[in-house]
Amino acid sequence: MASMINVALPKGRLGEKVYKMFEEAGYGCPDIFEGRKLVFESRDAGVRYFWVKPSDVPIYVERGAADIGVAGKDILLEYAPNVYELRDLGIGKCRMVVAAPKGFTDDSEYPLRVATKFVNIAQDYYASVGRDIDIIKLNGSIEIAPILGLSDVIVDLVETGTTLRENNLIVYENIMDISARLIANKSGYNFKSREINALLEKLQQTAQI
Ligand code: PRP
Repeated sequence: MASMINVALPKGRLGEKVYKMFEEAGYGCPDIFEGRKLVFESRDAGVRYFWVKPSDVPIYVERGAADIGVAGKDILLEYAPNVYELRDLGIGKCRMVVAAPKGFTDDSEYPLRVATKFVNIAQDYYASVGRDIDIIKLNGSIEIAPILGLSDVIVDLVETGTTLRENNLIVYENIMDISARLIANKSGYNFKSREINALLEKLQQTAQI
């Protein structure tokens, strides 16, 4: 008998898009958007979904609580989980950038004060360009930091550019392009390779990933 595939989906818009891709591929689950329940399964489709906080998806997958999951490349680079990266899903596209108030100039006599949620990505980026920084770790609303003089620049994600524009910030450097990735637990992938490969094949047919 085929095993159920346990899937960690990021709560929110990206997770809903991903679920729809899975549903089109024949892995639908009734009532998945109803109420506050976090676990849904369809025995017929052989799949069980968990809605989890986006930055927690790699933890569930790395530790095998989920066989596969979907996480942004930003989260994978920041936390470097020990998982397989199976596919670029081609959705959730955005950019990791350095942004600052208009008119900002970098004074290399002082460490650059960088506010970000992505401490490792920011540190790696500035190490690669040889710039000393003072990291200020925040958990959200990063754009406010340079406005209040807490930081000189921010390292953050930009999708439409609206948040930067409405807070009078502009992009100074592009660090990298980001998109959503399908990841798998290493031993889970080996143990359920038949089921997971069948899912990948169907996703490939319906979503052209
Ligand atoms: C993300 C990101 C930016 C915003 C970019 O924040 O950190 O603030 O989206 O999107 P835009 O270019 O389309 O305006 P998120 O909504 O995740 O909230 P956060 O403040 O908690 O980081």
